[in-house]
Amino acid sequence: MSLHVSRHPLVMDCLAGLRAVETRSDEFRGLARKVITLLAYEATADLTTSPITVRTPLAETAAARIDHELVAIPVLRAGLGILSPVLELFSRVSVGYIGLERDEKTALARIYYNKLPSLGGKTPLLLDPMLATGGSAVQAVELIKAAGGEGTRMICVVAAPEGVQALLRQHPEVDIYTAALDEGLNDKAFILPGLGDFGDRLFGTP
Ligand code: PRP
Ligand code: URA
Repeated sequence: MSLHVSRHPLVMDCLAGLRAVETRSDEFRGLARKVITLLAYEATADLTTSPITVRTPLAETAAARIDHELVAIPVLRAGLGILSPVLELFSRVSVGYIGLERDEKTALARIYYNKLPSLGGKTPLLLDPMLATGGSAVQAVELIKAAGGEGTRMICVVAAPEGVQALLRQHPEVDIYTAALDEGLNDKAFILPGLGDFGDRLFGTP
């Protein structure tokens, strides 16, 4: 449906650390956890709730519970590293996995794993930190739709205009929540200025 670029100062502060080349993997993981918590908060601000009554130690009072059953769907490998903050935030959440890998030469993404639960009536939260050409996200949303998912919300850390356009052209109903909309892609389809290879920086691989 649309692109939401966070303006929250804490998001911008975390992003500065994630971008900086000198940030070590252990620091990178902490910053990733923080920024995903904040983006997930923003991405779910419009979930509907139902009224309930609870008893505090002192009195009965009106309260509210989230109506939605969420399904967090990390795109392996980098998406796996941003799953745990989402699991900590929500109580009614299950997990589906999609494995996609870009060919280093062509930048085309190939599906190597797909384990999604039935998504009918649930709210899919697609987790992939980098939206570059959009090839991975387009295929991920196709798999989500094939499993009955509607109204996907994608959480990413950095998006390129090319990826946003590709995703919204193929799947205009998707909502994208990101910390930054960057300038574009380089000749290797890496995001500029970006933050490099998110998976490598998160997992400490070369
Ligand atoms: C990265 C990233 C996305 C994809 C984005 O994964 O995590 O999945 O690239 O690029 P795209 O928009 O051009 O498809 P990568 O293929 O590097 O695999 P990894 O997560 O295993 O490092
Ligand atoms: N994947 C990444 O990890 N970084 C990019 O800039 C593009 C794809």
